[in-house]
Amino acid sequence: MKTELIFPTPVWKFDNVGIDRESLTDFVYYVRKEDPEGRKQSNSGGWQSQDFIDSVMDNNPLKSIRDAIMERAYAAADEFGFNDYSLKMINMWININGKGASNHLHTHPGGVLSGVYYLKLPDCCFGNLSFIRDLNYSQMKEYWGDGDNVHRWEHMNETEHDVFPEEDQLVIFPAWLQHAVGTSAGEGDRISISFNITAFSNHYHEIYPSR
Ligand SMILES: [Fe+2]
Repeated sequence: MKTELIFPTPVWKFDNVGIDRESLTDFVYYVRKEDPEGRKQSNSGGWQSQDFIDSVMDNNPLKSIRDAIMERAYAAADEFGFNDYSLKMINMWININGKGASNHLHTHPGGVLSGVYYLKLPDCCFGNLSFIRDLNYSQMKEYWGDGDNVHRWEHMNETEHDVFPEEDQLVIFPAWLQHAVGTSAGEGDRISISFNITAFSNHYHEIYPSR
């Protein structure tokens, strides 16, 4: 028997990115102080900043993490098979999830690659990043059942996959992959920085010379 795993889903992880987290954390709390309301998106509880756009980040402390992300996003897109392309960060935003905060299931429409950088984590019990398989695949559980009917849960049959965050870790994934953030139960802030990246062809101007 030869088993082919078709349609694998890439989630790219980069440990020890090497960001100056102390100064970036200071900036995060400064942004929250200036805009204590923030905005409401996928977050349940917690605080989320407004969007930072690419041009703004050239001139603020997010530049270092933006540049580190873009370098690694090119490695991810290369592996994805992209050819003659350029990437551009569409937006970036800050999340501070305290005790009891979480993010409900969502995708990031409008981008190609999305991801998150973990700036600061509590000592314990912060929410994991949970990726959820397409609903049509989840039908396996409907047909065959759960728990005792399967002798192991792994990449072949799992319908949910958790990533356990680490400080100074970057995770990049396809923007259309459904994900959620579990509830933080520990004391202290879970600070993450999320982003969307789009891709465009380097031949764009040949195809559309007037643009
Ligand atoms: Fe997200």
